[in-house]
Amino acid sequence: MTGSLNVVVGITGGIAAYKAVGVIRSFVLAGHRVQVVATQGALRFVGRPTLEAISRNPVHTELYEGVAEVRHVAIGQAADLIVIAPATANTIARLASGLADDLLGNTVLASTAPVVIAPAMHTEMWQNPATQANIATLRSRGVTVVGPASGQLTGTDSGPGRMEEPETIVQAALAAVRPAGDLTGTRIVITAGGTREALDPVRFLGNRSSGKQGVALATAAVRRGASVTLIASHLDVTPPDGVTLVSAPSATELQHAVTDAAGAADIIIMAAAVSDYRPAEVRDTKIKKGDTGNELTLRLVQNPDILAGLAASARPDQVIVGFAAETAPAEDELLALGRAKLERKGCDFLVVNRVGWNEGFALDTNTVVVLARGGKLALEASGSKLEVADRILDAVTGHVPAPVA
Ligand code: CTP
Repeated sequence: MTGSLNVVVGITGGIAAYKAVGVIRSFVLAGHRVQVVATQGALRFVGRPTLEAISRNPVHTELYEGVAEVRHVAIGQAADLIVIAPATANTIARLASGLADDLLGNTVLASTAPVVIAPAMHTEMWQNPATQANIATLRSRGVTVVGPASGQLTGTDSGPGRMEEPETIVQAALAAVRPAGDLTGTRIVITAGGTREALDPVRFLGNRSSGKQGVALATAAVRRGASVTLIASHLDVTPPDGVTLVSAPSATELQHAVTDAAGAADIIIMAAAVSDYRPAEVRDTKIKKGDTGNELTLRLVQNPDILAGLAASARPDQVIVGFAAETAPAEDELLALGRAKLERKGCDFLVVNRVGWNEGFALDTNTVVVLARGGKLALEASGSKLEVADRILDAVTGHVPAPVA
């Protein structure tokens, strides 16, 4: 499935309904059209004006509204994807029974689109054999069940039953519409890890990049059928099987490797943390304290800007993607820095890492914003590095269209 999707977000009556706003926002931000179908119960927890403002469409609740346009089936027929978040125990039971006495039930029955549900309820209700049997029935019919997570519930309870976070739900939902092997035939070059600039045979100047996000991109791209060349500087993680692996410890080696691979690439993703400088002189033998005394001055020379070079010489059909780790605390400032860097580098997309927002180099999770040429916000994504990788691949391969935000 490429391009923008018609997404139906079904909201049912649970306290987690307020989090559905985040689900809707994420779909809209990524360029999808959202129709909200809310039960009366849902509207006790979250206001219609909020849902209409965020979805940019009227909210549908009543079975007997819009009869002339046969709305009770039209919404489901037009859907590419149905996401029900939160899905209460009652809704899950009704879906499992195929009931059609409200608009959401009709919408689901009238649709052939993938259905994704995010259960939310108290632990006892979730663990009740009736609910578990209903979930098993829905799963057997191909419904994707996201969560529930374990954590604080309404009141003083805590345990399994908490609705998953909006980004996790959106990620699982988009995965449900991606056909297997959707990147088959796409040739992607990915650089990953931190470069190491030799000082002498035993020492180097390096950085803290673990290479996890670049390796996650390679893993996700291979899983989706792309043919992947992974150009690896220093990695803390094992690269996936199925890639053409090229080792490039230093910026100079990375530049040679990526230049060699660029000709046969549809997409080049520069996730590597490339050292801006290298020692002017690399000693053949170990630098000895006895020879240098109390102070040692290193002279560094600038490395070429590989990303800017690739962008300047790219074919019109090639997509060049850069990364930027920025520490600006405020979102506006972060976006401004990202836009300036995108302009300076001349690439098609820039993935800006929100470093310092409880995210770091060695973690397995990441939060990014992706800017498209011209500075438009193309995507905001948060989650595991693998989930974020899939979202980035969607954005840069055109699986998520130009943003509407
Ligand atoms: N990059 C590159 N060649 C370099 C330095 C960086 O290709 N010599 C690439 C990185 O792989 C990344 C992007 O440029 O995709 C941004 O890197 P970053 O270090 O954030 O950018 P700088 O140009 O170093 O900008 P600044 O130092 O001002 O933050």
